[in-house]
Amino acid sequence: MAQLLITGGAGFIGSHTALVLLEAGHSLVVLDNFQNSSPESLRRVQELAGPEAAAKLRVVEGDIRSAADLEEALGSSTDAVVHFAGLKAVGESVAKPLAYWDVNVCGSRQLLAAMQRAGCRTLVFSSSATLYGIPDVVPIPESAPVQPINPYGHSKAAVERMLSDLAASEPGWRIACLRYFNPVGAHPSGRLGEDPNGIPNNLFPFVSQVAVGRRNRLSVFGGDWPTPDGSGVRDYIHVMDLAEGHRAAVDVLLAEDPQLLTLNLGSGQGHSVLEVVAAFEAASGQAVPYEVVARRPGDAATTVADPSLAAELLRWRTQRGLSQMCRDGWAWQSANPQGYAS
Ligand code: NAD
Ligand code: UD1
Repeated sequence: MAQLLITGGAGFIGSHTALVLLEAGHSLVVLDNFQNSSPESLRRVQELAGPEAAAKLRVVEGDIRSAADLEEALGSSTDAVVHFAGLKAVGESVAKPLAYWDVNVCGSRQLLAAMQRAGCRTLVFSSSATLYGIPDVVPIPESAPVQPINPYGHSKAAVERMLSDLAASEPGWRIACLRYFNPVGAHPSGRLGEDPNGIPNNLFPFVSQVAVGRRNRLSVFGGDWPTPDGSGVRDYIHVMDLAEGHRAAVDVLLAEDPQLLTLNLGSGQGHSVLEVVAAFEAASGQAVPYEVVARRPGDAATTVADPSLAAELLRWRTQRGLSQMCRDGWAWQSANPQGYAS
Protein backbone atom coordinates (compact mmCIF):
# COMPACT_ATOMS: atom_id res chain seq x y z
CA MET A 1 0.00 0.00 0.00
CA ALA A 2 1.25 3.45 -0.89
CA GLN A 3 1.54 6.86 0.77
CA LEU A 4 -0.22 9.35 -1.52
CA LEU A 5 -0.60 13.12 -1.65
CA ILE A 6 -3.94 14.25 -3.07
CA THR A 7 -3.97 17.95 -4.00
CA GLY A 8 -7.49 19.36 -4.23
CA GLY A 9 -8.78 16.24 -2.47
CA ALA A 10 -11.74 18.05 -0.88
CA GLY A 11 -13.23 18.91 -4.28
CA PHE A 12 -15.80 17.06 -6.36
CA ILE A 13 -13.56 14.51 -8.08
CA GLY A 14 -10.87 14.56 -5.39
CA SER A 15 -13.24 13.59 -2.57
CA HIS A 16 -14.67 10.59 -4.44
CA THR A 17 -11.17 9.51 -5.44
CA ALA A 18 -9.89 9.92 -1.88
CA LEU A 19 -12.60 7.53 -0.70
CA VAL A 20 -11.76 4.93 -3.36
CA LEU A 21 -8.03 5.17 -2.55
CA LEU A 22 -8.66 4.84 1.20
CA GLU A 23 -10.87 1.82 0.56
CA ALA A 24 -8.03 0.32 -1.48
CA GLY A 25 -5.83 0.57 1.63
CA HIS A 26 -3.64 3.55 0.73
CA SER A 27 -2.62 6.27 3.21
CA LEU A 28 -3.46 9.80 2.13
CA VAL A 29 -2.51 13.39 2.78
CA VAL A 30 -4.98 15.86 1.26
CA LEU A 31 -3.65 19.35 0.52
CA ASP A 32 -6.47 21.80 -0.18
CA ASN A 33 -7.04 25.50 0.46
CA PHE A 34 -10.84 24.96 0.37
CA GLN A 35 -11.31 27.81 -2.07
CA ASN A 36 -13.90 25.78 -3.97
CA SER A 37 -14.78 23.11 -1.41
CA SER A 38 -15.52 22.44 2.23
CA PRO A 39 -13.74 20.37 4.89
CA GLU A 40 -17.14 18.70 5.35
CA SER A 41 -16.53 16.61 2.21
CA LEU A 42 -13.44 15.08 3.84
CA ARG A 43 -15.30 14.41 7.09
CA ARG A 44 -17.83 12.48 5.02
CA VAL A 45 -15.09 10.61 3.19
CA GLN A 46 -13.83 9.47 6.59
CA GLU A 47 -17.34 8.52 7.71
CA LEU A 48 -17.88 6.41 4.55
CA ALA A 49 -14.44 4.81 4.76
CA GLY A 50 -14.94 3.66 8.37
CA PRO A 51 -12.68 4.28 11.37
CA GLU A 52 -9.71 2.14 10.35
CA ALA A 53 -9.30 3.67 6.88
CA ALA A 54 -10.30 7.14 8.17
CA ALA A 55 -7.24 7.12 10.42
CA LYS A 56 -5.10 6.94 7.27
CA LEU A 57 -6.26 10.37 6.03
CA ARG A 58 -4.41 13.53 7.09
CA VAL A 59 -5.58 16.96 5.94
CA VAL A 60 -3.24 19.90 5.36
CA GLU A 61 -4.99 23.20 4.72
CA GLY A 62 -2.69 24.98 2.32
CA ASP A 63 -1.96 26.18 -1.18
CA ILE A 64 -0.15 24.36 -4.00
CA ARG A 65 1.65 27.64 -4.77
CA SER A 66 3.31 27.61 -1.33
CA ALA A 67 6.63 25.73 -1.09
CA ALA A 68 6.21 25.47 2.68
CA ASP A 69 2.70 23.97 2.41
CA LEU A 70 3.92 21.52 -0.22
CA GLU A 71 6.87 20.49 1.91
CA GLU A 72 4.60 19.87 4.89
CA ALA A 73 2.16 17.83 2.80
CA LEU A 74 4.79 15.81 0.91
CA GLY A 75 7.09 14.95 3.81
CA SER A 76 9.81 12.49 2.86
CA SER A 77 7.87 9.31 2.19
CA THR A 78 5.25 10.14 -0.45
CA ASP A 79 5.14 7.47 -3.15
CA ALA A 80 2.86 9.29 -5.57
CA VAL A 81 0.83 12.49 -6.02
CA VAL A 82 -2.66 12.76 -7.49
CA HIS A 83 -2.98 16.39 -8.56
CA PHE A 84 -6.56 17.71 -8.73
CA ALA A 85 -6.07 21.21 -7.29
CA GLY A 86 -6.88 23.90 -9.79
CA LEU A 87 -9.45 26.29 -11.19
CA LYS A 88 -11.91 24.87 -13.71
CA ALA A 89 -14.52 27.39 -14.90
CA VAL A 90 -14.21 28.20 -18.59
CA GLY A 91 -16.02 31.57 -18.44
CA GLU A 92 -14.05 32.70 -15.40
CA SER A 93 -10.82 31.76 -17.19
CA VAL A 94 -11.70 34.14 -20.03
CA ALA A 95 -12.37 36.94 -17.51
CA LYS A 96 -9.39 36.18 -15.24
CA PRO A 97 -6.70 34.44 -17.30
CA LEU A 98 -3.86 35.34 -14.94
CA ALA A 99 -5.56 33.48 -12.09
CA TYR A 100 -5.69 30.36 -14.29
CA TRP A 101 -2.03 30.61 -15.31
CA ASP A 102 -1.12 31.28 -11.67
CA VAL A 103 -3.00 28.42 -9.98
CA ASN A 104 -3.09 25.83 -12.74
CA VAL A 105 0.31 26.37 -14.37
CA CYS A 106 2.50 28.06 -11.72
CA GLY A 107 0.87 25.93 -9.00
CA SER A 108 1.69 22.76 -10.94
CA ARG A 109 5.26 23.97 -11.47
CA GLN A 110 5.64 24.56 -7.73
CA LEU A 111 4.30 21.09 -7.05
CA LEU A 112 6.75 19.46 -9.49
CA ALA A 113 9.70 21.33 -7.99
CA ALA A 114 8.62 20.25 -4.50
CA MET A 115 8.29 16.64 -5.71
CA GLN A 116 11.85 16.81 -7.09
CA ARG A 117 13.10 18.07 -3.73
CA ALA A 118 11.21 15.34 -1.90
CA GLY A 119 12.40 12.61 -4.28
CA CYS A 120 8.87 11.70 -5.44
CA ARG A 121 8.54 11.24 -9.21
CA THR A 122 5.12 9.64 -9.62
CA LEU A 123 2.18 11.85 -10.60
CA VAL A 124 -1.38 11.50 -11.82
CA PHE A 125 -2.54 14.80 -13.33
CA SER A 126 -6.15 15.97 -13.85
CA SER A 127 -6.20 17.02 -17.46
CA SER A 128 -9.32 17.64 -19.52
CA ALA A 129 -10.94 16.85 -22.83
CA THR A 130 -11.34 20.61 -23.08
CA LEU A 131 -7.87 20.70 -24.65
CA TYR A 132 -9.24 19.08 -27.81
CA GLY A 133 -11.25 22.27 -28.43
CA ILE A 134 -13.74 21.71 -31.26
CA PRO A 135 -12.68 18.20 -32.30
CA ASP A 136 -12.21 17.22 -35.94
CA VAL A 137 -12.81 13.51 -35.31
CA VAL A 138 -15.32 11.84 -32.96
CA PRO A 139 -14.82 9.55 -31.02
CA ILE A 140 -11.68 11.50 -30.07
CA PRO A 141 -8.42 9.55 -29.78
CA GLU A 142 -5.52 10.86 -27.65
CA SER A 143 -3.63 11.53 -30.89
CA ALA A 144 -6.14 14.23 -31.87
CA PRO A 145 -4.67 17.75 -32.06
CA VAL A 146 -4.41 19.72 -28.83
CA GLN A 147 -6.19 22.95 -29.80
CA PRO A 148 -7.77 24.58 -26.76
CA ILE A 149 -10.04 27.54 -27.31
CA ASN A 150 -10.04 29.20 -23.89
CA PRO A 151 -7.52 30.06 -21.14
CA TYR A 152 -8.63 27.12 -18.98
CA GLY A 153 -7.85 24.73 -21.82
CA HIS A 154 -4.55 26.49 -22.51
CA SER A 155 -3.56 26.06 -18.87
CA LYS A 156 -4.19 22.29 -19.03
CA ALA A 157 -2.27 22.00 -22.31
CA ALA A 158 0.64 23.98 -20.79
CA VAL A 159 0.86 21.62 -17.80
CA GLU A 160 0.80 18.56 -20.07
CA ARG A 161 3.68 20.17 -22.06
CA MET A 162 5.61 20.89 -18.86
CA LEU A 163 5.16 17.28 -17.75
CA SER A 164 6.44 15.85 -21.02
CA ASP A 165 9.45 18.20 -20.95
CA LEU A 166 10.18 17.12 -17.39
CA ALA A 167 9.84 13.40 -18.14
CA ALA A 168 12.22 13.81 -21.10
CA SER A 169 14.78 15.70 -19.00
CA GLU A 170 15.17 13.33 -16.09
CA PRO A 171 14.79 9.55 -15.92
CA GLY A 172 12.48 8.01 -13.37
CA TRP A 173 9.30 10.02 -13.77
CA ARG A 174 6.06 8.04 -13.86
CA ILE A 175 3.27 10.31 -15.05
CA ALA A 176 -0.32 9.83 -16.14
CA CYS A 177 -2.17 12.77 -17.74
CA LEU A 178 -5.83 11.80 -17.51
CA ARG A 179 -8.07 13.71 -19.88
CA TYR A 180 -11.52 13.60 -18.32
CA PHE A 181 -14.62 13.96 -20.44
CA ASN A 182 -17.74 15.10 -18.49
CA PRO A 183 -17.63 13.91 -14.86
CA VAL A 184 -21.09 13.78 -13.22
CA GLY A 185 -23.09 11.93 -10.59
CA ALA A 186 -22.19 11.28 -6.99
CA HIS A 187 -21.38 8.58 -4.46
CA PRO A 188 -24.43 6.26 -4.30
CA SER A 189 -24.87 6.98 -0.57
CA GLY A 190 -25.81 10.58 -1.39
CA ARG A 191 -23.20 11.73 1.17
CA LEU A 192 -20.65 13.02 -1.39
CA GLY A 193 -21.35 15.00 -4.53
CA GLU A 194 -20.76 18.12 -6.60
CA ASP A 195 -21.32 21.40 -4.75
CA PRO A 196 -20.80 24.26 -7.20
CA ASN A 197 -20.67 27.87 -6.06
CA GLY A 198 -23.42 30.10 -7.40
CA ILE A 199 -25.23 29.36 -10.65
CA PRO A 200 -23.86 26.15 -12.17
CA ASN A 201 -22.21 26.47 -15.59
CA ASN A 202 -22.43 22.77 -16.32
CA LEU A 203 -25.44 20.78 -17.39
CA PHE A 204 -25.74 18.13 -14.68
CA PRO A 205 -25.63 20.35 -11.60
CA PHE A 206 -28.02 22.76 -13.30
CA VAL A 207 -30.51 19.99 -14.13
CA SER A 208 -30.36 18.62 -10.60
CA GLN A 209 -30.93 22.08 -9.11
CA VAL A 210 -34.00 22.50 -11.36
CA ALA A 211 -35.28 19.09 -10.24
CA VAL A 212 -34.89 20.01 -6.56
CA GLY A 213 -36.60 23.37 -7.08
CA ARG A 214 -33.59 25.70 -6.65
CA ARG A 215 -33.87 26.92 -10.28
CA ASN A 216 -36.97 27.40 -12.43
CA ARG A 217 -35.93 25.98 -15.75
CA LEU A 218 -32.99 24.78 -17.79
CA SER A 219 -31.81 26.70 -20.84
CA VAL A 220 -30.85 24.17 -23.51
CA PHE A 221 -28.02 25.78 -25.45
CA GLY A 222 -28.99 25.16 -29.06
CA GLY A 223 -31.61 22.93 -30.70
CA ASP A 224 -30.06 23.00 -34.15
CA TRP A 225 -26.81 21.09 -33.67
CA PRO A 226 -26.06 18.33 -36.21
CA THR A 227 -27.03 15.64 -33.66
CA PRO A 228 -30.00 13.20 -33.62
CA ASP A 229 -32.27 15.51 -31.58
CA GLY A 230 -30.52 18.83 -32.25
CA SER A 231 -29.09 19.27 -28.72
CA GLY A 232 -25.40 18.90 -27.82
CA VAL A 233 -23.95 15.45 -27.23
CA ARG A 234 -21.34 14.69 -24.53
CA ASP A 235 -19.56 11.73 -22.99
CA TYR A 236 -20.71 11.75 -19.35
CA ILE A 237 -18.67 9.69 -16.92
CA HIS A 238 -19.84 8.70 -13.44
CA VAL A 239 -17.53 10.23 -10.85
CA MET A 240 -17.12 6.82 -9.17
CA ASP A 241 -15.89 5.34 -12.46
CA LEU A 242 -13.51 8.28 -12.73
CA ALA A 243 -12.29 7.70 -9.16
CA GLU A 244 -11.66 4.04 -9.97
CA GLY A 245 -9.72 5.15 -13.06
CA HIS A 246 -7.38 7.10 -10.77
CA ARG A 247 -6.89 4.09 -8.53
CA ALA A 248 -5.98 2.05 -11.62
CA ALA A 249 -3.57 4.75 -12.82
CA VAL A 250 -1.79 4.89 -9.45
CA ASP A 251 -1.47 1.09 -9.42
CA VAL A 252 -0.10 0.94 -12.97
CA LEU A 253 2.40 3.77 -12.47
CA LEU A 254 3.76 2.31 -9.25
CA ALA A 255 4.00 -1.23 -10.67
CA GLU A 256 5.52 -0.56 -14.07
CA ASP A 257 8.68 1.03 -15.46
CA PRO A 258 8.84 4.81 -15.62
CA GLN A 259 6.58 6.12 -18.37
CA LEU A 260 4.41 9.04 -19.44
CA LEU A 261 0.83 8.05 -20.17
CA THR A 262 -1.75 10.35 -21.76
CA LEU A 263 -5.20 8.82 -21.57
CA ASN A 264 -8.82 9.73 -22.19
CA LEU A 265 -11.14 8.84 -19.32
CA GLY A 266 -14.62 8.62 -20.76
CA SER A 267 -17.26 6.02 -21.51
CA GLY A 268 -17.20 6.18 -25.29
CA GLN A 269 -21.00 6.78 -25.20
CA GLY A 270 -22.60 10.08 -26.16
CA HIS A 271 -25.82 11.45 -24.67
CA SER A 272 -27.69 14.57 -25.75
CA VAL A 273 -28.92 17.32 -23.43
CA LEU A 274 -32.52 16.20 -23.99
CA GLU A 275 -31.62 12.60 -23.16
CA VAL A 276 -30.04 13.79 -19.91
CA VAL A 277 -33.18 15.76 -19.04
CA ALA A 278 -35.39 12.72 -19.67
CA ALA A 279 -33.10 10.38 -17.71
CA PHE A 280 -32.97 12.80 -14.78
CA GLU A 281 -36.75 13.16 -14.73
CA ALA A 282 -37.10 9.37 -14.71
CA ALA A 283 -34.53 8.93 -11.91
CA SER A 284 -35.87 11.72 -9.71
CA GLY A 285 -39.60 11.58 -10.40
CA GLN A 286 -39.41 15.38 -10.76
CA ALA A 287 -40.17 17.52 -13.80
CA VAL A 288 -37.25 19.39 -15.36
CA PRO A 289 -38.79 22.23 -17.38
CA TYR A 290 -36.57 23.60 -20.11
CA GLU A 291 -36.51 25.98 -23.03
CA VAL A 292 -34.28 25.80 -26.07
CA VAL A 293 -32.20 28.98 -26.45
CA ALA A 294 -29.27 30.08 -28.62
CA ARG A 295 -26.07 28.06 -28.79
CA ARG A 296 -23.39 28.83 -26.15
CA PRO A 297 -20.24 30.32 -27.71
CA GLY A 298 -17.34 27.87 -27.72
CA ASP A 299 -19.51 24.73 -27.61
CA ALA A 300 -19.00 21.76 -29.93
CA ALA A 301 -21.88 19.69 -31.29
CA THR A 302 -20.50 16.36 -30.09
CA THR A 303 -17.55 15.33 -27.94
CA VAL A 304 -17.16 11.64 -27.17
CA ALA A 305 -14.01 9.83 -26.04
CA ASP A 306 -12.28 6.97 -27.69
CA PRO A 307 -11.59 5.21 -24.37
CA SER A 308 -9.74 2.20 -25.81
CA LEU A 309 -6.22 3.19 -24.76
CA ALA A 310 -7.18 3.52 -21.08
CA ALA A 311 -8.97 0.16 -21.31
CA GLU A 312 -5.79 -1.43 -22.63
CA LEU A 313 -3.19 0.26 -20.44
CA LEU A 314 -5.10 0.68 -17.16
CA ARG A 315 -7.31 -2.41 -17.58
CA TRP A 316 -10.16 -0.07 -16.59
CA ARG A 317 -13.40 0.89 -18.25
CA THR A 318 -16.58 2.61 -17.10
CA GLN A 319 -19.22 0.46 -15.40
CA ARG A 320 -22.06 2.90 -14.73
CA GLY A 321 -24.55 4.26 -17.27
CA LEU A 322 -26.64 7.41 -17.57
CA SER A 323 -29.51 6.21 -15.38
CA GLN A 324 -27.12 5.44 -12.52
CA MET A 325 -25.43 8.83 -12.94
CA CYS A 326 -28.86 10.45 -12.56
CA ARG A 327 -29.97 8.20 -9.69
CA ASP A 328 -26.81 8.88 -7.68
CA GLY A 329 -26.78 12.56 -8.60
CA TRP A 330 -30.36 12.81 -7.37
CA ALA A 331 -29.54 10.92 -4.13
CA TRP A 332 -26.93 13.62 -3.43
CA GLN A 333 -29.02 16.62 -4.56
CA SER A 334 -32.22 15.61 -2.78
CA ALA A 335 -30.44 14.87 0.52
CA ASN A 336 -28.25 18.00 0.29
CA PRO A 337 -30.30 20.65 -1.55
CA GLN A 338 -27.79 23.36 -0.56
CA GLY A 339 -24.73 21.12 -0.99
CA TYR A 340 -22.42 20.68 1.99
CA ALA A 341 -24.01 23.73 3.64
CA SER A 342 -27.36 21.86 3.90
P1 NAD B 1 -13.19 21.24 -7.64
O1 NAD B 1 -13.14 22.72 -7.75
O2 NAD B 1 -14.37 20.62 -6.99
O3 NAD B 1 -11.87 20.72 -6.90
C1 NAD B 1 -10.65 21.40 -6.97
C2 NAD B 1 -10.09 21.48 -5.55
O4 NAD B 1 -8.84 22.18 -5.61
C3 NAD B 1 -11.01 22.26 -4.61
O5 NAD B 1 -11.17 21.52 -3.42
C4 NAD B 1 -10.26 23.56 -4.37
O6 NAD B 1 -10.52 24.10 -3.09
C5 NAD B 1 -8.82 23.11 -4.53
N1 NAD B 1 -7.90 24.19 -4.91
C6 NAD B 1 -8.08 25.13 -5.86
N2 NAD B 1 -6.99 25.94 -5.91
C7 NAD B 1 -6.12 25.47 -4.99
C8 NAD B 1 -4.84 25.88 -4.56
N3 NAD B 1 -4.23 26.95 -5.10
N4 NAD B 1 -4.20 25.18 -3.59
C9 NAD B 1 -4.81 24.12 -3.01
N5 NAD B 1 -6.05 23.69 -3.38
C10 NAD B 1 -6.68 24.36 -4.33
O7 NAD B 1 -13.00 20.66 -9.11
P2 NAD B 1 -13.17 19.17 -9.65
O8 NAD B 1 -14.34 19.14 -10.53
O9 NAD B 1 -13.05 18.20 -8.55
O10 NAD B 1 -11.89 19.11 -10.61
C11 NAD B 1 -10.65 18.58 -10.16
C12 NAD B 1 -9.63 18.70 -11.27
O11 NAD B 1 -10.12 18.03 -12.43
C13 NAD B 1 -9.34 20.15 -11.70
O12 NAD B 1 -7.96 20.26 -11.97
C14 NAD B 1 -10.14 20.30 -12.97
O13 NAD B 1 -9.57 21.25 -13.85
C15 NAD B 1 -10.08 18.90 -13.56
N6 NAD B 1 -11.21 18.60 -14.44
C16 NAD B 1 -12.48 18.72 -13.97
C17 NAD B 1 -13.55 18.45 -14.82
C18 NAD B 1 -14.97 18.58 -14.33
O14 NAD B 1 -15.87 18.61 -15.15
N7 NAD B 1 -15.26 18.64 -13.04
C19 NAD B 1 -13.32 18.06 -16.15
C20 NAD B 1 -12.00 17.94 -16.59
C21 NAD B 1 -10.95 18.21 -15.72
C1 UD1 C 1 -17.62 22.34 -20.14
C2 UD1 C 1 -16.46 23.18 -20.61
C3 UD1 C 1 -15.23 22.31 -20.61
C4 UD1 C 1 -15.00 21.71 -19.24
C5 UD1 C 1 -16.23 20.93 -18.84
C6 UD1 C 1 -16.13 20.34 -17.46
C7 UD1 C 1 -17.33 24.90 -22.13
C8 UD1 C 1 -17.45 25.35 -23.53
N1 UD1 C 1 -16.75 23.70 -21.94
O1 UD1 C 1 -17.76 21.26 -21.02
O2 UD1 C 1 -14.12 23.10 -20.97
O3 UD1 C 1 -13.88 20.84 -19.26
O4 UD1 C 1 -17.36 21.80 -18.86
O5 UD1 C 1 -16.12 21.33 -16.49
O6 UD1 C 1 -17.72 25.57 -21.20
N2 UD1 C 1 -25.77 22.82 -21.61
C9 UD1 C 1 -27.04 23.34 -21.72
N3 UD1 C 1 -27.49 24.13 -20.71
C10 UD1 C 1 -26.77 24.44 -19.61
C11 UD1 C 1 -25.44 23.90 -19.50
C12 UD1 C 1 -24.99 23.10 -20.52
O7 UD1 C 1 -27.74 23.09 -22.70
O8 UD1 C 1 -27.23 25.19 -18.73
C13 UD1 C 1 -25.29 21.91 -22.67
C14 UD1 C 1 -24.02 22.37 -23.37
O9 UD1 C 1 -24.30 23.20 -24.45
C15 UD1 C 1 -23.40 21.03 -23.77
C16 UD1 C 1 -23.84 20.07 -22.65
O10 UD1 C 1 -24.98 20.68 -22.05
O11 UD1 C 1 -23.97 20.57 -24.96
C17 UD1 C 1 -22.78 19.87 -21.59
O12 UD1 C 1 -22.34 21.13 -21.11
P1 UD1 C 1 -21.36 21.27 -19.84
O13 UD1 C 1 -21.87 20.45 -18.73
O14 UD1 C 1 -21.16 22.73 -19.60
O15 UD1 C 1 -20.03 20.59 -20.35
P2 UD1 C 1 -19.12 20.89 -21.64
O16 UD1 C 1 -19.62 22.05 -22.40
O17 UD1 C 1 -18.95 19.63 -22.37
